Amino acid sequence: MSHLDIDKSGGRYERPDFSKNANQAETAPAFLAVHDIHAYYGESYIVQGVSFNVHEAEILALLGRNGAGKTSTLRAIAQIGSPQMTHGEVWLDHQPLHRMSSYEASRAGLALVPEDRRIIPGLTVEENIFLAQIAPPIGWSAERIYELFPRLGERRKQEGVTLSGGEQQMLAIGRALARDIKVLLLDEPYEGLAPVIVDEIEKTLNIIKEQGITTILVEQNAVRALKLADRAVILDTGEVVYDGTAKEVLENEQLRHDYLAI
Ligand SMILES: Nc1ncnc2c1ncn2[C@@H]1O[C@H](COP(=O)(O)OP(=O)(O)OP(=O)(O)O)[C@@H](O)[C@H]1O
Ligand SMILES: [Mg+2]
Repeated sequence: MSHLDIDKSGGRYERPDFSKNANQAETAPAFLAVHDIHAYYGESYIVQGVSFNVHEAEILALLGRNGAGKTSTLRAIAQIGSPQMTHGEVWLDHQPLHRMSSYEASRAGLALVPEDRRIIPGLTVEENIFLAQIAPPIGWSAERIYELFPRLGERRKQEGVTLSGGEQQMLAIGRALARDIKVLLLDEPYEGLAPVIVDEIEKTLNIIKEQGITTILVEQNAVRALKLADRAVILDTGEVVYDGTAKEVLENEQLRHDYLAI
């Protein structure tokens, strides 16, 4: 299973209909279709045939215990190269991300905000935002980002890495929006943040949703993520064990106990 059978050479741009193959029946066509992806770190087989669909402007909570493969799945979708995706397809709005490099996937409208946020040292808040805009496709203006996060506007001349944890998370999200994105992948955005800051970030995720952006939210704080999300996918040892509404997970004690330990 470790052979590479993905054609990265580009080519045709037509999307097979995966809706029948997804984990459950879908009505609207998927905007982001993750189809049977398998990925390895060296010999370690981590992402073991993950499939799910996300609709436009939906918030999907991607949950599971520590080590379940959430970060690896996000990295595979973003075509980071580690883990190496050896099989499967990822389609974003009819574009085959699995045939692209991470840079091309980013240009196609995918933004990954990793857990460590990657604020660039030595640059101010506004320089971090402007750097995201040096190449097209350009998204929100700095002013619009400051309207969404007034704290960033007040601190625009401050070095990004000296911001508080919550402000750095806002900058990381703001910097993603500075590019013209369709899908935002957030890896544990609430980690280490006070509940009032989480409230603020949640509010902005709803505003982003109203603008038509699709979000995949990976969170340890599963209850908060489920209350915000439309749908949930739960991973366990690199496989999908639940795909359905977020509400159902909140109401299903067995499911929460078995896979989320909450
Ligand atoms: N670079 C790596 N090399 C080898 N194995 C890795 C690497 N990164 C992660 N793994 C392994 O892959 C599995 C899934 O890790 P991953 O980080 O995707 O889990 P996660 O669901 O994000 O967990 P957490 O909730 O702790 O962040 C784990 O067993 C982990 O040890
Ligand atoms: Mg993780």
